[in-house]
Amino acid sequence: MGWKSMLALAGAALISMAGGAQAAPSANAISAVLHADQPGPVLSRHLQGQFVEHLGEGVYDGIWVGPESTIPNTRGIRNDVSAALRAIKVPVVRWPGGCFADIYHWRDGISPASKRPVRKNDWWSGLESNAFGTHEYFDFVDQIGAESYVAINMTTSTPSEMREWMDYITSSAKDSIADERRANGRQEPWKLGFVGIGNEAWGCGGMQTPEYFANEYRRFATFMHRNGSTFHMHNDNAALRVASGPNNDDVAWMDTVLKSAAPMMDAISLHYYTVFDGKWENRDKAPSTGFPADHWNHILYQASRMEGILKMHEAVMDKHDPQKRIGLYVDEWGTWYAPQAGTEPGFLRQQNTLRDALVTAMTLNIFHAHADRVKMANIAQGVNVLQAMILTDGAKMARTPTYHVFAMYTPFQDTTALPLEVSAPLLKSGANSFPAFTASAARSKDGRVHVAVANADADRGYRLSLKLQGVRAGKISGQVLTAAKTDAHNVPGEAEQVRPARFDGAKLVGDALVLDVPAKSVVVVSLDQN
Ligand code: AHR
Repeated sequence: MGWKSMLALAGAALISMAGGAQAAPSANAISAVLHADQPGPVLSRHLQGQFVEHLGEGVYDGIWVGPESTIPNTRGIRNDVSAALRAIKVPVVRWPGGCFADIYHWRDGISPASKRPVRKNDWWSGLESNAFGTHEYFDFVDQIGAESYVAINMTTSTPSEMREWMDYITSSAKDSIADERRANGRQEPWKLGFVGIGNEAWGCGGMQTPEYFANEYRRFATFMHRNGSTFHMHNDNAALRVASGPNNDDVAWMDTVLKSAAPMMDAISLHYYTVFDGKWENRDKAPSTGFPADHWNHILYQASRMEGILKMHEAVMDKHDPQKRIGLYVDEWGTWYAPQAGTEPGFLRQQNTLRDALVTAMTLNIFHAHADRVKMANIAQGVNVLQAMILTDGAKMARTPTYHVFAMYTPFQDTTALPLEVSAPLLKSGANSFPAFTASAARSKDGRVHVAVANADADRGYRLSLKLQGVRAGKISGQVLTAAKTDAHNVPGEAEQVRPARFDGAKLVGDALVLDVPAKSVVVVSLDQN
């Protein structure tokens, strides 16, 4: 049985569980097979991407404090934040929005600091100083070792403005725009990885219809002048083009845009946020901490819907692009709760608990199962906004439970997926149900096999017995992330309440890897090959 059919089998199990048909196995012992002999697609490092928007304290205070700040910094970028992001090997950072991208004019952010205009941030409130612009962004991604992903302004701008920005970033010629960049202190062009053309074009990006957007996309993409596309063979810009894709389960958007513009894109985005009852208008109602017990399952159920949503879009993409040339980039995902008390609501600042850690691990496991199409994902957002990796408070900083899951999953970057047939009992969220745990496995280039389990069951641990096929396992090491309280979280300047610990619950029994996975925990183990 090959990778795809194995995946389908696991998927079928999940579907039947979602329908509530499957009874929980006796006790908490579950057997499964880890097919290390049937390698699947690459799990791109880009699945662990981040998103940073000019929104609240996402950039200012969170990343940028300016060179004059008493907070230790390198050319204005906080040292504590950049070190923490470097440590989790952030592969790519999408910037400057989000909705903000469509009100951003890149020329506002390139002149000497004192000359930059101050503008209203009409989407998220507050003032935009433009102190953090193109040069500062590329310095930031360089400092953390990430690739660049720039979202251009498609709605309040023109193809000319886009073209000039592309040339400012990538031109190696002696042309005036490249000379302007040199005069502003950067001799060499930067390497531009990805360009987003449009952001939520169906919403804050212009309330466009899919037909209208597809035409606009074609117009902008024509002037991207991407090296490698037909008549632009000798251009300096090699960035991949990402079309603004659907919201949630809007397959009509996917279908219409692909039908019209597929040959002109390298990827299409998908945005899916986890909100309390799945209703967008309630996104800011449920608390991020101190939540009622039943909110645990409600949120985790909403997160689990990512699986079905990916399947719907993949079916449409397979119709238009059976070779799977076009990547599906989930370039905004994560939890969205009520703003933290005392903060400006437009700043979207929320706490981040053990529950968010489970959302993260469950979602990464889902991405792993869809890695033949899902080539990038960017959690929203990196610092201080929504499901952040990092929260800052003046000079203080906290690494959130979400951060720690990303840290635990770094061994999965650029590995080869291995099918793991796993079937879990069901948890309930009202009339809906979802698997109590998800798991994924992969082999890294050094031959080690990694297994991750996200146990969303707040009350029960599970003993997973994974029969190893195609692995001669040697030494086992691992980490577990859990806490006594479901809303355990970390606060800037205080001792961490949630952090990974050594996992002692793994052992080899015959040809099986046995994992004693605690309730409400994330476990990642690595097996050396013998
Ligand atoms: O991440 C916050 C906002 O959510 C983004 O700006 C927008 O794209 C989405 O609606």
